[in-house]
Amino acid sequence: MVKKAIIPAAGYGTRGLPVTKVIPKEMFPVGAKPAIQYIVEEAFASGIEELLIIVSRAKSLIVDYFDRSLELEAFLERRNKTHLLKEEFIPSGQIYYTRQPYARGLGDAVRLGKSFAGGEPFAVLLPDDIVLHKGVPAIRQLIEHYERCGQSVVGLNKVERNELHKYGVIRGEPLDNGAYCITDMVEKPKTNPPSDLAVIGRYVFTPAIFSYLETLPSPGEEEIQLTEAIRRLAAEEGCQGKLIAGTRFDIGTADGYMSLLSAVWKER
Ligand code: G1P
Repeated sequence: MVKKAIIPAAGYGTRGLPVTKVIPKEMFPVGAKPAIQYIVEEAFASGIEELLIIVSRAKSLIVDYFDRSLELEAFLERRNKTHLLKEEFIPSGQIYYTRQPYARGLGDAVRLGKSFAGGEPFAVLLPDDIVLHKGVPAIRQLIEHYERCGQSVVGLNKVERNELHKYGVIRGEPLDNGAYCITDMVEKPKTNPPSDLAVIGRYVFTPAIFSYLETLPSPGEEEIQLTEAIRRLAAEEGCQGKLIAGTRFDIGTADGYMSLLSAVWKER
């Protein structure tokens, strides 16, 4: 059973500058909610009971958002307006936070969750990627696949060839039901992508991923790539890819963010 999930939200959000200098991209409004709320709701709707959000110094707004505001509550009570907070989201499960002190990439951020995972399988949700789906939530689709196959699973989307350079791209042998046995993976291939199967930000890992993350070299300021650890995991323990049903939006780009706003607006 997968009961824990890690949300790495420590990046600088350089693609969103200048606004991301003070407003984390995870807090960008999507209707009346910040983007990260979609991710937290997806996790709890998928059977996750404990979440670890990896933040950085500039991300305290995220911690504040998932907490009560006693001052605001008292203010609204005095004015008989507490109904204005009825949509407030105080998560049903437990959220833990830790800070990533050095911006050393996604692999390093996930590595910080080792003792939180405590030797259990766990999910990872990247908050840049919001997946709208009317049926089973995206991470639940991967958890169910993990429960069937017992191997780590990464979420996949088929992507146009000219867009593949923005993603981790797998090489894989097709199995049943949109699943693939991963034989290799390349992070942001500049030329010759190994397939059109791009990794989107949903993963379920066995705890073995930490031993690969820990053995990766961390030279100076360079980023530790999660993709490199997945490649090694795939070669030794095995790792599958699974096509995710739903529409995925990358809120790290203006196009992705605007399309998400328009999709949520149409659904309201
Ligand atoms: C990360 C991963 C990449 C994956 C992508 C999905 O890249 O490194 O493998 O395809 O997320 O959004 P980033 O977009 O953080 O550069």
